[in-house]
Amino acid sequence: MSDIQLKQLTKSYGNHVAVAGIDLHIAEGEFFSLLGPSGCGKSTTLRMIAGFVQPTSGEVLIGSDDVTALPPEKRDIGIVFQNYAIFPHMNVADNIAFGLKLRKRPREEIRKQVTHALTQVGLSGYEDRYQRQLSGGEQQRVALARVLVTEPRILLLDEPLSALDKSLREEMKYWIKGLQKKLGITTVYVTHDQDEALTMSDRIGVMQKAQVVQVGTPQDIYERPKTLFVTTFIGHSNVMDATVGSGAGQDMTVLIDGKPVPTRGPENLAPGQAIKLVVRPENVLIGPDETMPIRLPATVLSETYQGALVRYHLAVGGQEIVAERQNQSGNERFDPGTPVMIGWDPHRSEALVA
Ligand SMILES: Nc1ncnc2c1ncn2[C@@H]1O[C@H](COP(=O)(O)OP(=O)(O)OP(=O)(O)O)[C@@H](O)[C@H]1O
Ligand SMILES: [Mg+2]
Repeated sequence: MSDIQLKQLTKSYGNHVAVAGIDLHIAEGEFFSLLGPSGCGKSTTLRMIAGFVQPTSGEVLIGSDDVTALPPEKRDIGIVFQNYAIFPHMNVADNIAFGLKLRKRPREEIRKQVTHALTQVGLSGYEDRYQRQLSGGEQQRVALARVLVTEPRILLLDEPLSALDKSLREEMKYWIKGLQKKLGITTVYVTHDQDEALTMSDRIGVMQKAQVVQVGTPQDIYERPKTLFVTTFIGHSNVMDATVGSGAGQDMTVLIDGKPVPTRGPENLAPGQAIKLVVRPENVLIGPDETMPIRLPATVLSETYQGALVRYHLAVGGQEIVAERQNQSGNERFDPGTPVMIGWDPHRSEALVA
């Protein structure tokens, strides 16, 4: 088995806690992303899984093996480091063969494995090239081939696309995801890029200040964020000031400018308590139909044309919110100053305690 368990995994540097007691189970064959802002402990977590950083406390299990005390080379793991390029003084074939030569494999076997790895990453025939003769994306493919050739149980990737430009990143993220699915290899992917995490992952662990604050599928994380941090870190959100009206959980009402607004939210709330109401811009409807349970008067402040989307800034009472609409033919456009009604599906909003 090649599932991964982290048990109360902790790393302190002096007084600074880089990773604070993480518990995670990553399933065999899963593409799991650790997503969070700079300095939240993503790389440190990955390096503890790999064995390059020794935990202060806690355990790392791969399958049923406790590998916490094992050195990296005994863990059967492949890791592509953050900003790690290929060796410039070696050609592609020698770069890929590097790990196998260390393992003293026979020369003929190495040659076959290198050819196979290059086919896997779509670079057949590139054996004799040097780094300077490769594009950024090709270099990343070689870096991956160099890891895959050792047939690791687990693949660890630390921001492998961060050095590439936007269009290449787009292309590579689908390519890596496709390769991972084809190989079925358990993968932990570190990124601070929410688009990468949403597109590539089976599940995401969102990290904040040395902790994993939410684990879920991309859809869970985007549509059911548990905290204000998660909702603002992933995608854009309108965060409105509100107070608790009545109820709690699935069936609650908040007050915005004294008007009752149904939503879902946490349990154990006191009426009158200050709370934030969170709605994604794409869920804010301008001119909702009469049956919509939420209908609030608003004024258009500005309209921004963004090609496929049109963004509206709207004043709702004393607050400002953003609505995004598809720029489809037939969709009415609104000039600044226009009074409108806005609304949203209560199940597409979330009340969260600040
Ligand atoms: N060897 C070290 N000695 C002291 N502090 C360290 C060491 N390595 C990491 N840290 C600290 O631990 C925290 C987490 O670092 P880590 O590299 O895991 O962050 P990260 O989430 O990968 O960030 P980034 O997105 O910038 O790569 C940071 O505050 C960092 O300064
Ligand atoms: Mg890092």
